[in-house]
Amino acid sequence: MAQAKVFITRRLPAGLEQLQQVASVEVWTERKPPPYDVLLEKVKAIDGLLCLLSDRIDEQLIVAGNLKVISQMAVGYDNIDVAAATKRRIPVGHTPGVLTDATADFTWALLMAAARRVVEADRFTRAGLWQSWEPDLLLGPNITGATLGIVGFGRIGQAVARRARGFDMRILYTSTYQWEPELEKSLGVEFAPLEKLLQESDFVTLHTPGTDDTYHLFSDRQFDLMKSEAILINTARGTVVDSDSLYRALASGKIAAAAVDVTESEPIPHDSPLLTLDNLIITPHIGSASRQTRLKMAKMAIANLMAGLRGHSLPYCVNP
Ligand code: DGY
Repeated sequence: MAQAKVFITRRLPAGLEQLQQVASVEVWTERKPPPYDVLLEKVKAIDGLLCLLSDRIDEQLIVAGNLKVISQMAVGYDNIDVAAATKRRIPVGHTPGVLTDATADFTWALLMAAARRVVEADRFTRAGLWQSWEPDLLLGPNITGATLGIVGFGRIGQAVARRARGFDMRILYTSTYQWEPELEKSLGVEFAPLEKLLQESDFVTLHTPGTDDTYHLFSDRQFDLMKSEAILINTARGTVVDSDSLYRALASGKIAAAAVDVTESEPIPHDSPLLTLDNLIITPHIGSASRQTRLKMAKMAIANLMAGLRGHSLPYCVNP
């Protein structure tokens, strides 16, 4: 039987040797993702594709080849037309679970940095503006004892809640359904409709997937409902927040600040007005970027890929 052919859309931190024993592997080594037309050509000659969230895997691309498996190195898969893959009986793998803690940790890094104005303070100091200890220099709100609103209460939302308990916070969450009372009790959380959560939270953090249902879930109306001292954190997907509304909310002081690891188009365009705001922290989608986590994600993506090449069910499969 001919050796399986695989294309990997970026260098991975682990797992290649194992894969090379069973397949001929081509790796895209540039820093930027392969352009769509390159991917379209590649897909015609391969059995397995290992991709990232920056690769558009749409129906046109899926029907162009004879893929046995698509394996994404991420938990989210909004860049992949899963319905089109399912129609062609192509299993789609992803990497849930292994990035939960790293992403929850980073959510807290952003929350604390935004609240206590860490990035602004660093810019201030480097600009030579630190003249003395001042009673009202770079003030921010208390984190301890504040109300945290978690929008989306899956693995990552719950891990964020677990960390919030150490800060004696009141924790509200909203989600497509209310969790069992035992889980709510063990995490010390209270279910709230989105409207109430927005009105009562000092910090609002987003942990929903990027789907049609969550597209622009945060728009002018939601910012209107938030407290003027509130801070928004987004480590989920950029599409959940309407960028124009976010700009208006931050520029007008409708909310106090935001910290986002994800933006509507990634990378954020250099001329985005969001980049002019001092009360916004933006990081380049690095929520899961701990060395250990990325290693686990790569290994999991390879395991899914290899299972698909062998015609086995994927350990972590997205298709219904
Ligand atoms: C994911 O896995 O979906 C994150 O956004 C990147 O790690």
